[in-house]
Amino acid sequence: MNRIAVYPGSFDPITKGHEDLIHRSLGFVDRIVVGVAVNVAKQPLFSFEERVALIRECVADKRVEVQSFDGLLVDFAKKVGATVIIRGLRAVSDFEYEFQMALMNRNLGPQIETIFLVPAFDLTYLSSSLVREVARFGGDVSALVHPAVQQALKRKFKK
Ligand code: PNS
Repeated sequence: MNRIAVYPGSFDPITKGHEDLIHRSLGFVDRIVVGVAVNVAKQPLFSFEERVALIRECVADKRVEVQSFDGLLVDFAKKVGATVIIRGLRAVSDFEYEFQMALMNRNLGPQIETIFLVPAFDLTYLSSSLVREVARFGGDVSALVHPAVQQALKRKFKK
């Protein structure tokens, strides 16, 4: 059986927390399609093309494919043949939004299950928005992101 999962998000940019969840997911699915949302609520730092390219650089595994998507997540999941949506839960503060989203996605696509994964303990505080903020003010993000992302952040914030 070829079990396919979608791992959706803004990935603005991908962090080691995201990478950790991708590797954990490969423990129970055959393929992962990382779905980069084109239209995110906030104005992204990186274009969707840049976000896709960075994920491809960070995750070099034949079982992981990266695509951008526009529109509903469940439609994207159906299009790529996924039966599972992967989301990370870092803290209680994530829960309400994630719970709402999972129930809405179940309403829209009852055949697709959402699975929540907990990242490695030392990555639970990590978020793309924190990484952007630290990098914007010249802080060291080398422990938080892949070197390719670190370089991309340096280029973005170069004065
Ligand atoms: O990394 P993020 O910003 O938490 O990811 C949120 C994302 C992209 C997964 C979510 O906004 C999404 O699924 N957008 C696609 C539109 C959609 O399907 N909305 C209904 C789900 S409740």
